[in-house]
Amino acid sequence: MTVAALGFMPDRGSDTPIFEQICAAIRSRIRSGALAPEERLPATRALATDLGVARATVVTAYEQLMAEGYLRSRRGSGYTVCAMGEVELSPAEETYPAQDLTEHPPLSLEAGEPDMRLFPYRAWAKCVSRLCRTRPEEMLTGCGGFGHPELRQAIATHVRDWRGIPARPEQILVTSGATEALDICLHALARQGGTVAVEDPGFPPICNFAEAQGLRVRDLFVDAQGAEVPTVGDGTGVVVLTPSHQYPLGGAMSAGRRQSFIAWAAQAGGWIIEDDYDSEFRYAGHPIPAMAGVDAQGRTVYIGSFSKVFSNSLRMGYIVAPDGLVDVLGTAMSAKGARASSMPQAALAEFMHRGEFYRHLRRVRRVYAERHRNLVDRLRRDFSDVGHVQDHHAGMQVVLHLRDGLNDQKLAQSARAHGLGADALSAFCRGSAGLNGLILGASLNDLDEQEEALERLRRVISSTEKSPPQERIFRT
Ligand SMILES: Cc1ncc(COP(=O)(O)O)c(C=O)c1O
Repeated sequence: MTVAALGFMPDRGSDTPIFEQICAAIRSRIRSGALAPEERLPATRALATDLGVARATVVTAYEQLMAEGYLRSRRGSGYTVCAMGEVELSPAEETYPAQDLTEHPPLSLEAGEPDMRLFPYRAWAKCVSRLCRTRPEEMLTGCGGFGHPELRQAIATHVRDWRGIPARPEQILVTSGATEALDICLHALARQGGTVAVEDPGFPPICNFAEAQGLRVRDLFVDAQGAEVPTVGDGTGVVVLTPSHQYPLGGAMSAGRRQSFIAWAAQAGGWIIEDDYDSEFRYAGHPIPAMAGVDAQGRTVYIGSFSKVFSNSLRMGYIVAPDGLVDVLGTAMSAKGARASSMPQAALAEFMHRGEFYRHLRRVRRVYAERHRNLVDRLRRDFSDVGHVQDHHAGMQVVLHLRDGLNDQKLAQSARAHGLGADALSAFCRGSAGLNGLILGASLNDLDEQEEALERLRRVISSTEKSPPQERIFRT
């Protein structure tokens, strides 16, 4: 077709960039049938001259339309129109109303869940579509045993820039989440019949994995500095820690305690598994570097997750193995048959490489910081007769430590019955009796929803029968 037949001139007074105007014009002509399937578009140079724009502007527009599935390019024959049946994406001028894409749980105080209404669906769709079109084989193959090479590279850069870990891509093993990574690490590092020490309270699946492997589990009491350090020679071979943001209490481990753990590992010949599941969400002060970045002995295995910063459903996490452990952990990974789906790996790598991931991360961090602040303020203002909170300026949840006479299990059950989905703190405890609180999600609701959820929680607490008084201590 000729340039004139396109029948379009850019509006230079418009706020819409010219390349987007070109995209919109071609898109609407394809959708109306004015441009037929297999029809050739004007050559980029000719269209650029005719429209009085730079050739790069036209190239950008054509590439965008290719990514969206409207055009294809064949060597020597320029750009041609795809049949509409091949178009995979909605037109770019359409917005993505969140309720069409995700079912947002109404007013849930569920902890640790990202608000998927903030997810950059369009940018992600473009990335996936571009890959399907240009490197489709990589969606199904090309990941090797340890993950897609580009994703391993992107993760190495990420942990270096955000967590202070000087990792090389060869040290990265991509898993289907931090949970699987924990299982692999225990499988690889714990000695048969040995002892694994876990934080109490802590993340319940760790004990399940350890016990399933016939390992003894030792509870590490958590105080204001973090978990207690095992004694050298007490049989503990592996400790699993959440030093950046203790799960579920929320505090950061003190620098002194970190050093004590590193010293313990060196002296006992033990291993530290650092579960850094949501460390990107720190809202005040400087980021706290990961232990794996300061452990010069190389006895700390680092685990990260994309469940909080990206999407829980993506099921993607990773291990940063110290140099000497890459093969050991890789073998354990294969022995367990563990492998993350290859489908999203190249797309995620590109998403990170293009900066979209970081745009999203900065945005959600800003939003969650505000929600976190509001939740802490509201709990302090309106729930001081119910219990107390400590603001750790981090993470996606806040613990409301209940005063004596209120039973967290009973309250959590009533809250669930009212659709609020709060968790009882005591359900995450093993030996440490006395912890009694509600774990409240700070990220899922916007500020108005949060207000409503808290009013509902207030009513639930008032109407729930008070338990007989019990001896309780507060630990934060
Ligand atoms: C402490 C801790 N570790 C690991 C995970 C699991 O992460 P993933 O979804 O990547 O398996 C969670 C999830 O909430 C968690 O709280």
